[in-house]
Amino acid sequence: MAGKHRKRGFVIREACEEDLPEMVGFLAKLALHVSGAPPHDLKESERKRLMRTLHSSLDDPNKLLLVAESEHAGLVGMGYVYIWRSQGIWEQSESTEFKSGVIDDIWVEPEFRGLGILKALLRDLVTFAEQHHASELILEYAASNKEAKAAWTKLGFKTTGVRAAAFTSVVKQALTAS
Ligand SMILES: CC(C)(COP(=O)(O)OP(=O)(O)OC[C@H]1O[C@@H](n2cnc3c(N)ncnc32)[C@H](O)[C@@H]1OP(=O)(O)O)[C@@H](O)C(=O)NCCC(=O)NCCS
Repeated sequence: MAGKHRKRGFVIREACEEDLPEMVGFLAKLALHVSGAPPHDLKESERKRLMRTLHSSLDDPNKLLLVAESEHAGLVGMGYVYIWRSQGIWEQSESTEFKSGVIDDIWVEPEFRGLGILKALLRDLVTFAEQHHASELILEYAASNKEAKAAWTKLGFKTTGVRAAAFTSVVKQALTAS
């Protein structure tokens, strides 16, 4: 897995405990990127919460946390998948369990984009999903996230739903008006 990309200057590997502080930094950048907010620091309580969440994923057999590591620049990206199980709901059908791979927390440092790091991460996330018999991959990205839309579309993802949000006051206003 690792050797294949060494000639391109990076390796993909499973995350370990020492990677977690830097990965929390990536998650903070991802949150700012999605919200469009100016840079600011994470609250200490939030940093600790993210550390705990990532830490618990390391040993979970249903989750895979990956990092992309550059030979010269250290960690330059991360990716995550977990296996989500759901049961068949119809009386007539046999007890079937459906499995999906949920992809989340994908970040590639800006100066390392366009080098195939997302594709390399995804190759290993897909292998993990396949090993767990998940035949479907699911992910979410913000409608405003143009590069995510471009990349995921190229990689075969199609929009299957819309998540909508509104201020409570706006909905109240709409109800009053109608
Ligand atoms: C989206 C993101 C992960 C892509 O990572 P990357 O390592 O640059 O992607 P890759 O180089 O592996 O490219 C994968 C494919 O997507 C395409 N692609 C990537 N970024 C693109 C962009 N900005 N515009 C158009 N196509 C793009 C590539 O052309 C490539 O397809 P190809 O091989 O057929 O040419 C990266 O831009 C990023 O971290 N963005 C900020 C965080 C984010 O949006 N995360 C996803 C939230 S769900």
